[in-house]
Amino acid sequence: MNTLKLGFIGAGFIARFQALAMKQVRNCELSAIYDHTGAADLADYAKKNGLGEPKLYKTVAELCNHCDAVALLSPNYTRIEMMEQIVDAVKKGAELKGVICEKPLGRTVAEAERMVHLAKEANLLTSYFENQLHMNSINNALHQLRPQQEVMGGFTLARSTEEHAGPHNAWFWDPTRQGGGVLSDMGCHSIAIGRHILTPEGKSTTFLKPVSMQCDTSLLKWGQPKYKKQLLDKYGVDYSKTPAEDFATGIATFKNPETGQLLKAQFTDSWMYDKQGLRLWMDALGPGYAMEVNTLISPVEIFIGDEAAEGVADAETALEKSTSSRGLLSVLPNEADLYGYTTEIRDAVNSFLNGKNALLDFEFGAEVTFLVQAAYMAAEQKKTIDLTDTKVINDLKTYQSLISQGKGADILFS
Ligand SMILES: NC(=O)c1ccc[n+]([C@@H]2O[C@H](COP(=O)([O-])OP(=O)(O)OC[C@H]3O[C@@H](n4cnc5c(N)ncnc54)[C@H](O)[C@@H]3O)[C@@H](O)[C@H]2O)c1
Repeated sequence: MNTLKLGFIGAGFIARFQALAMKQVRNCELSAIYDHTGAADLADYAKKNGLGEPKLYKTVAELCNHCDAVALLSPNYTRIEMMEQIVDAVKKGAELKGVICEKPLGRTVAEAERMVHLAKEANLLTSYFENQLHMNSINNALHQLRPQQEVMGGFTLARSTEEHAGPHNAWFWDPTRQGGGVLSDMGCHSIAIGRHILTPEGKSTTFLKPVSMQCDTSLLKWGQPKYKKQLLDKYGVDYSKTPAEDFATGIATFKNPETGQLLKAQFTDSWMYDKQGLRLWMDALGPGYAMEVNTLISPVEIFIGDEAAEGVADAETALEKSTSSRGLLSVLPNEADLYGYTTEIRDAVNSFLNGKNALLDFEFGAEVTFLVQAAYMAAEQKKTIDLTDTKVINDLKTYQSLISQGKGADILFS
């Protein structure tokens, strides 16, 4: 089998995680990196870990001429501009097979649809990176429960949460650049995984039809004076003027089009989870059976007392978004695999090498954006949004949440 040469645009947190995942994936190499913050360090890491001999390129066009597929791993506010440059490079002769894009595909439905359109214009295969649908723990549990589902009927309720104590870079906190707060950042994962858990085996990822959306967005921790000051001092983001939500919860209702049955995906996301670090928690209830996943439950625990805490290593090597370096700590032996990054990048590589879109393509990513934006609309309007109403669907095409317009004070402080 051939090797797929990947070019990374973005060399920050997620690029590093994907490089870690690539160590566990065959038939791919990192050949090119867009020359921005962190690129030289990432190239060094790739060389030391046998991922390739990536070169740094100052333009997207040059990058596209030195890889088979581009992975867009840069901040949300750079998506469209980078994608336009990729399409331009293809039109000028770059022989790209496909493009990968990290979540979210767009900050609005219009942006996500533009991404779909641009990929089609350049005839590129697509892969939308939503790692949670690739989590082996989830998919193994679903597999084990298929016989029960056949006998008893499918899951009717899925609950999913993603929480940590807050993002690592200023642009995530700025709703006008990121596209909102925690709902835009992590609600996309939780809504998508809830729908996946509810989807009957063998059916497509968009088989269940969205019926309605309820949601509440709140600013519970980072709007308090002490924490607002921390954000201003550390990241230069002023939550007195342009706040974003640090807590979001809601219910997406779907319909099985074959049986007419209504199914609920409840989601909760927060940037105020002041425990060990990142926690993904999902459970699902069916008639007579259930499943539950908690990524913080590890077979490995370590304890570091006060006296020994001076010599501690970087706690984030043990657990993403770790908040503590002493006490009883979780160590997750293979986070890239646990969160689904390994399976996700393997799927993109194998799909592109076989001339196919990945399991989750840009159309799927655009549908996730649609659901997330419906959740913002529901929270703003303080009512259940009817996702079968063509007027609502049309309104969502041009909708931009107040929070992402920098007007979050209007709803988060009232
Ligand atoms: N799937 C997940 O769980 C997950 C986790 C984290 C981030 N993400 C997504 O990955 C993307 C990147 O997030 P991150 O945490 O790596 O961010 P980051 O801030 O850590 O790194 C972003 C990198 O992008 C590059 N960059 C910055 N500005 C740029 C510009 N103007 N043009 C081109 N490149 C630029 C730089 O190399 C920078 O290091 C985001 O879209 C985010 O939503 C996904």
